[in-house]
Amino acid sequence: MALRARIIGTGAFAPPRVVTNDEMAKIVDTNDQWIQERSGIKTRRLVDYEGAMSTADMAEHAARGALERAGITAMDLDLIIVGTVTPDLRVPSCACILQDKLGAKNAAAFDVLAACAGSMFALSVADKFLRAGTVKRILVVGAETLSVITNWTDRSTCVLFGDAAGAFVVEAGPEEGPGLIDTAVYSDGSTWQHLYIPAGGSKKPLTPELLAARQDRLIMNGREVYKIAVRSLVDAARKILEKNGLTANDIDLVVAHQANLRIIEAVADRVEIPLERFVINIDRYGNTSSASAFITFDEAVRDGRMKPGSKVLMLAIGAGMCWAAALYRA
Ligand SMILES: CC(C)(COP(=O)(O)OP(=O)(O)OC[C@H]1O[C@@H](n2cnc3c(N)ncnc32)[C@H](O)[C@@H]1OP(=O)(O)O)[C@@H](O)C(=O)NCCC(=O)NCCS
Repeated sequence: MALRARIIGTGAFAPPRVVTNDEMAKIVDTNDQWIQERSGIKTRRLVDYEGAMSTADMAEHAARGALERAGITAMDLDLIIVGTVTPDLRVPSCACILQDKLGAKNAAAFDVLAACAGSMFALSVADKFLRAGTVKRILVVGAETLSVITNWTDRSTCVLFGDAAGAFVVEAGPEEGPGLIDTAVYSDGSTWQHLYIPAGGSKKPLTPELLAARQDRLIMNGREVYKIAVRSLVDAARKILEKNGLTANDIDLVVAHQANLRIIEAVADRVEIPLERFVINIDRYGNTSSASAFITFDEAVRDGRMKPGSKVLMLAIGAGMCWAAALYRA
């Protein structure tokens, strides 16, 4: 029997601390108007201080919500896949630490690194496992403590990011009815230098000098990332619609990675899906990387915008550059 991956529970978590643009203006030379006009961000949620709450801590909150809504326990999970670039430790994976926190003793666990597209890459991997029939239930998580890799002296990046976690419980079900219709993942490694962390890996292990120069923090060529993001997301959206015999008119809801409101507006315009069909929360959370698409999906479930039968287009892009698309029937 052909199988389809259904999202049977979603969860989201963001740290309680709300940081306004005016507060950002006390840290770097910026202002509320610039941030809102260029990105659409009004506030972001950040952990109280570096180390106050880890990525796995936030992932646990989101995962417990998703498990509860799915009506299953952690013991029912066969697999845990976490998309993150900010794992608690270099080794082991964030997924294994999350497994321990949840007591998901029957699951295998691993991380996926595709930056802001990490949760969507993880969802695509989960889809393949479920369709193959090798496992029945998977916890897919996008979780990120971006504040620990943000350069708080760089105004061109630090105003954009936030911390959060989103989780899906995905279960194999019959081909008919709700579930993932299709997923697609893409990368263009030749563009990696537009968004990266210079030091702290095997190429440039950290030294006191590199730390002092904040080389353990994100560097971004914003203009290039912007252009690649719009081009790639539009291309991925068109391809997945065409491949599945759908048009923009068929899409009820778009759940896209919240990188920048202007990117979302440009994609909406080019793909010809009205902006009202995009779920938008960047104003409240900023760019939360791999958590972004999942917390946005969760919001649409909770506020009733995602109705039974809704056709949902999901899109995400991140460092690498890596990008992904998915079609989901609610
Ligand atoms: C980062 C981004 C918002 C910057 O917007 P932009 O319109 O490209 O702005 P620029 O980088 O050209 O900078 C314009 C000016 O604003 C200044 N500026 C940059 N950050 C600023 C800030 N926080 N506050 C005030 N001024 C700022 C720049 O120094 C520059 O000044 P100059 O003209 O005197 O040199 C935009 O490029 C972007 O969103 N890129 C994509 C980022 C992204 O989505 N990344 C994640 C992908 S997963």
